Amino acid sequence: MTVPAAPAFGAPCPVTASPQTLALLASRRSASAQALRAPGPDAAQLADLLRLAARVPDHGKLAPWRFVVLEGEAKDAFVRRLQALVDRQAAPEKARAVLAKIALPPLTVAVISSPKPASIPLWEQQMSAGAVCMTLLLAAEAMGFGANWITDWYAFDPDARALLGVADTEQVAGFIHLGTPSEDPLERVRPDMSAIVQRWEA
Ligand SMILES: Cc1cc2nc3c(=O)[nH]c(=O)nc-3n(C[C@H](O)[C@H](O)[C@H](O)COP(=O)(O)O)c2cc1C
Repeated sequence: MTVPAAPAFGAPCPVTASPQTLALLASRRSASAQALRAPGPDAAQLADLLRLAARVPDHGKLAPWRFVVLEGEAKDAFVRRLQALVDRQAAPEKARAVLAKIALPPLTVAVISSPKPASIPLWEQQMSAGAVCMTLLLAAEAMGFGANWITDWYAFDPDARALLGVADTEQVAGFIHLGTPSEDPLERVRPDMSAIVQRWEA
């Protein structure tokens, strides 16, 4: 599956209707992280996915996010180092159990919110990192992979953050686990739209 190159700088980017995109948005569902197996994206596919994920709205063009790729033996070593932190967690057995979500998928991308000193509010820079996570999920699904956006305790634990190389000024926006789902996810409850949509009236 070929992912088109980015338009040349300054080239027109016309709005184009995409029924396939609408179908994806109407039915997309996160895969269970524990159900993700090889094959995951290969090196070229991952490069495309990250390029697409970095193509998000970004007030001030600051690129206030970055990626840490966890794959192969390095990922196994990362998980072993997390296992060593489990007993220090408030609920060690649960903390150990949820490590399956990062241990089993063949590829994980940590999306790091990395705000820049600028006049753009911190909240806006952090929301842009959320957009990166969501775009990565959508792009992975469009490429035929399953994906799940997880934080879990190791996004917040100071030692786990240090292990990942997250600075004090940064946050883990999410671990995006990627692979091939061994089972189809089932549709979940969705919001009652009438409860969350209001029309402002003067
Ligand atoms: C920022 C963020 C963090 C999340 N962290 C977790 C988590 O730590 N553990 C978990 O089980 N689900 C977590 N989730 C939820 C999963 O992504 C869940 O699979 C997803 O919401 C399912 O909905 P979907 O199928 O519509 O994508 C998180 C979601 C978001 C947006």
